[in-house]
Amino acid sequence: MEHPADLDWMRRALELAEHGRGTVSPNPLVGCVVVCEGRAVGEGWHRRAGGPHAEVAALAAAGTAARGATAFVTLEPCDHTGRTGPCTSALLAAGIVRVVAAVADPDPRAAGGADTLRAAGVDVRIGIAGDEARRQNEVFFHGAATGRPFVVAKAAVSLDGRIAAADGTSQWLTGREARLAAHGLRGAVDAVLVGSGTVLADDPRLTVRVPGHAAPQPLRAVLDRRGRIAAGGRAWRVLDGSAPTVVLDEPDPKAVLAALWERGVRSVLVEGGAAVVSAFLQAGLVDKVVLHVAPLLLGEQGRPFLSGDGIATLAGAPAFRLDRVEQVGTDAVLTLYPAGGR
Ligand SMILES: NC(=O)c1ccc[n+]([C@@H]2O[C@H](COP(=O)([O-])OP(=O)(O)OC[C@H]3O[C@@H](n4cnc5c(N)ncnc54)[C@H](OP(=O)(O)O)[C@@H]3O)[C@@H](O)[C@H]2O)c1
Repeated sequence: MEHPADLDWMRRALELAEHGRGTVSPNPLVGCVVVCEGRAVGEGWHRRAGGPHAEVAALAAAGTAARGATAFVTLEPCDHTGRTGPCTSALLAAGIVRVVAAVADPDPRAAGGADTLRAAGVDVRIGIAGDEARRQNEVFFHGAATGRPFVVAKAAVSLDGRIAAADGTSQWLTGREARLAAHGLRGAVDAVLVGSGTVLADDPRLTVRVPGHAAPQPLRAVLDRRGRIAAGGRAWRVLDGSAPTVVLDEPDPKAVLAALWERGVRSVLVEGGAAVVSAFLQAGLVDKVVLHVAPLLLGEQGRPFLSGDGIATLAGAPAFRLDRVEQVGTDAVLTLYPAGGR
């Protein structure tokens, strides 16, 4: 049965889940609130893969107050023994009588929690704030459905859609706040990927440099089929040892993603440049685009966002759905999904 406050408690659980961003991969973000007589008696979230699940953390915080309580959890409680025991057993042992979950678990190994709880007499409801929960865990749901990493293409562009000036300079198109936000994007993914052209032009570090960033650095991946990075003998910053780095010579984006998936990567931020972003777009392997639009013009000699032969006719243009527009400092940040995508 639905209760009027269910949505509010689920939103609180979603907020808690967010604390795990950047540290839980390859697991999902999960938050949990244990509520007894209209009061939160325990809260928890999944902090890192291999660590306690959100339900176990919230139950520990609630202690004996969990008896007869409701657990709000952003993902159906797991029913399997992985690195930790089944959450269904923990909920039953604690005396939880009602479980409200935002979405069912898409992972067949972990699914079945709702059935187990119902069989034990627990009142189970799934589907509160389901869209919000699926969106929060877009990486996890995407991985479960496709078996490949979720790809976010990020670029800083001028008002006329150029990613660099005619001479190749692009540092810095955007202001300080937008660049800080870009570091936040890096901190939320497992890998940051660029082409050799970007390393040769900009010598980027590709690390997360935001105050208070404590999580491990994402993997740095450079696509370099001709070995130009190693050949130069130069001390490129991506090879400075400050974060794990892999130089890949795979011929196509699909193979690149398969290789990264094998290394445990579930989300990739493709940061450029034009050739690599275009290759991923043309292969239909971009799941989300974040564009930082700077208020300046670079003219037709500037380097375009999309390289190659161009789009012959409007009907053939890659199209996107605008999801969000924010002003960040002096720049506009657009979040888009491929049209027809989620
Ligand atoms: N504004 C921004 O957000 C931003 C971000 C990054 C870069 N940039 C600018 O972009 C420019 C560099 O862009 P770019 O297009 O020259 O370089 P790029 O896309 O970074 O790298 C291109 C190189 O990547 C290698 N590569 C490997 N696999 C590939 C594949 N499947 N498809 C295409 N290339 C592949 C190719 O070299 P091999 O054949 O040797 O493998 C290719 O020459 C610079 O001016 C930089 O400042 C701007």
